[in-house]
Amino acid sequence: MLILKTAKELLDLRNSQKNKSIGFVPTMGALHQGHLELVKHSIVENDFTYVSIFVNPLQFNNKEDLEKYPRTIEKDIGLLESIDTDAVFIPEYAEVYNAGISYDTIDLSYLNSILEGPKRPGHFDGVVKVVSILFKLIQPDKAYFGLKDFQQVKVIEKLIKDKQYPIRLVPCPTVREVDGLAMSSRNVRLSPDARKKAAMIYQWLLKARDLYQQGCTVKEIEKIIIEDIQKHSDFQLDYFEIRDANDLSPIHNAQQPAVALIAVYLDGVRLIDNLML
Ligand code: PAF
Repeated sequence: MLILKTAKELLDLRNSQKNKSIGFVPTMGALHQGHLELVKHSIVENDFTYVSIFVNPLQFNNKEDLEKYPRTIEKDIGLLESIDTDAVFIPEYAEVYNAGISYDTIDLSYLNSILEGPKRPGHFDGVVKVVSILFKLIQPDKAYFGLKDFQQVKVIEKLIKDKQYPIRLVPCPTVREVDGLAMSSRNVRLSPDARKKAAMIYQWLLKARDLYQQGCTVKEIEKIIIEDIQKHSDFQLDYFEIRDANDLSPIHNAQQPAVALIAVYLDGVRLIDNLML
């Protein structure tokens, strides 16, 4: 596996690969099985797969979250090697933001106004900045993103569409632990007790899906699930909402496709998840 650290190394390699199909998996490291599934997907579908590992400070609205973000670079490299990844790009800040590649911005007014948007001001703008630079450096044919970050997938979809990048977005299903907890780099920050309790998040999503399939209205389901969450004092609810899965607009009655999205704090760790209903 090639380990690339500078934008120049990356561009030199990329410019020698004119006739290859290129897959790209952007990450912030602390890799888990969820990331590896994205990479495996890309390896199967492309001649050459790049993974990036870069903890992007611009997308953290909370300094403590940035400081506490797990960094496990040696382990990450080993995991990527074990599945035969072609190349990993591990840049320092300046190699991304001062390498002479300009970032793009898009109108995120709607996506910034719902769900994660108001809870994490500036987050999606930071994601767009870094992803647009990485796209310009790597020039992939296909880019792989996990559906656990459902709203992020919508942001990237809009970025590709608005800027007309010749890139196909491949959203990939959330990978779950045996008890249903969505895999996330932040899970390692949970105490053993909180880790056990975290399985409730998936149970609430499953319950929402059952209620939806039984014909309950969106308002009814949101009320039932929110009351349920509030009974568990370990969890602090950020939001639980059911929305249109195409554009995340509000919906009222059972109509397909819908998605339930949840964000809670547990043990001081913010966890998000979602489920198609
Ligand atoms: O989903 C992530 O890990 C990050 O938001 C991404 C896409 C790598 C951009 O920093």
